[in-house]
Amino acid sequence: MRSAILLPGILALALVAPAANAQEGQGDVVYVPTPQVVVDEMLRMAKVGPGDYVIDLGSGDGRIVITAAKKHGARGFGVDLDTYLLKLANSTAKKEGVAERAHFIEQNLFETDLSPATVVTSYLLPEMNEKLRPKLLTLKPGTRVVAHDYALGEWDPDEERTLLVPEKVVGDPGKSYIFLYVVPARVAGRWESEIAPGGKPVPYQFSFEQNFQYVHGTARVGGRELRLPQFRLAGEQIGFSLAVPAPGGPVAHRFSGRVKGDTIEGTVTVGVGSGQRVMPWKARQTARGEMKTGGAAGTRILAGGRR
Ligand SMILES: C[S@@+](CC[C@H](N)C(=O)[O-])C[C@H]1O[C@@H](n2cnc3c(N)ncnc32)[C@H](O)[C@@H]1O
Repeated sequence: MRSAILLPGILALALVAPAANAQEGQGDVVYVPTPQVVVDEMLRMAKVGPGDYVIDLGSGDGRIVITAAKKHGARGFGVDLDTYLLKLANSTAKKEGVAERAHFIEQNLFETDLSPATVVTSYLLPEMNEKLRPKLLTLKPGTRVVAHDYALGEWDPDEERTLLVPEKVVGDPGKSYIFLYVVPARVAGRWESEIAPGGKPVPYQFSFEQNFQYVHGTARVGGRELRLPQFRLAGEQIGFSLAVPAPGGPVAHRFSGRVKGDTIEGTVTVGVGSGQRVMPWKARQTARGEMKTGGAAGTRILAGGRR
């Protein structure tokens, strides 16, 4: 269980307390700025660069999007309901010379169109993250979501860090938790491909079950059904190993590729050592399955065997 979920409620109390004035934020959570050192680390973990479009949900004084624009050359916007903070954020963006690339608008974060985002950032209450999670999972595969202090519930982060922040007095005083998620491609369902390790094309069929970024399933090769070891998607990158029985002993296969909708393109490495061959691998989806997202119906497959 991640510690931030168990934080004693100082931050939670601060976040649910009614706002007394405009500087305390408006809406479902009050204004608590993310310490700058944490902003820097969030953007570093998300590998934000000039090609990125960053959306901060509940942008406060705008520091996350302004830092992304100023230090990393990214573009983006923030939304908030507090007009004082929005004005402050837009005037800081102007002062810092990044108003062309960073702007702030009055909008409910639950209604924001997130489709342009390559990176989404948040410092929100757990129940808000929970409500946002289904929408975040529909974003383009590879989109990074970085959450400060509160995780996204059942979705395991791809990376998490705890930072010592002596000046932080809310939440777990002196500490900040950062959770990085990469939106996984949707691969649940059946896939067909052909490879020719011995010169003659052989059908390789796969059936994948998916729970968030975790995948398991079976492969059908030469009339045999083989169980695939669990593996993890990294956005649109897929990679897994398979040992195919053969008269001279199992033959190692290493599949790796990029998922683009209903196709996967990549390579398969067959064999080991000097007999190893690398061949193109192209798979086509023939039946779509549902990505599970925890809950009663979900067979949760967790790294390290946790359930
Ligand atoms: C904890 S602060 C985080 C500020 C900033 N993201 C940061 O990390 O420094 C949360 C912000 O969300 C804003 N907010 C709360 N509910 C909102 C809603 N439904 N729509 C848009 N903004 C909201 C508040 O006004 C506040 O500025």
